[in-house]
Amino acid sequence: MGNYSSNVGSVLISKERIQERVKDIAQKINEDYKDKDNVVILGVLKGAFVFLADLIREISLDIRVEFISVSSYVNSESTGKFYLKIPCTGNLEGANVIIVEDIIDSGLTIEYLLDVLKNQKVKSARICCLFSKKIRREKEVDIDYVGFDIGDDFIIGYGLDYNGKFRNIPFIATYKDDKNL
Ligand code: IMP
Ligand code: MG
Repeated sequence: MGNYSSNVGSVLISKERIQERVKDIAQKINEDYKDKDNVVILGVLKGAFVFLADLIREISLDIRVEFISVSSYVNSESTGKFYLKIPCTGNLEGANVIIVEDIIDSGLTIEYLLDVLKNQKVKSARICCLFSKKIRREKEVDIDYVGFDIGDDFIIGYGLDYNGKFRNIPFIATYKDDKNL
């Protein structure tokens, strides 16, 4: 068996707790969307892919799964200038879209995405994220489905990365800087 890097801090949220919350969220979605048609689960790459894979297998509705990828222009995170790195290849017009994000931090990315969806003439758009850092919000966003509200820690695992790594860790850990070892 291999070892995770020394940057992987203590377990913040276990695999089991994540699975429980994923099931709770899916149950709510099953209930809320039972009479809706053209339901699209729109995963925001890359971070949401692990959460999305577990979530959709608990959703017992007639859904489509699509993906989108958003990037911010270099050095402009605070100005919130974004572009679509990978546009959604499916038709979203008239769809009831549930955006699935790994984590909502400042809220700037999701604000941009909602704007993109409006331009694509979706019928409705709701937001689902596994993690939310409410205290860091710069834009007020209405999140319909939240797994865990967390503090200001930088977290890794279960799809979330630091410099592209640690997405494969099956639990949520804090990122431990080498300087603090
Ligand atoms: P926002 O536009 O500030 O809401 O940015 C959300 C994005 O920031 C997420 O999709 C993540 O890619 C990234 N992010 C924010 N906080 C964390 C974290 O603690 N761990 C990993 N990625 C994070
Ligand atoms: Mg992300």
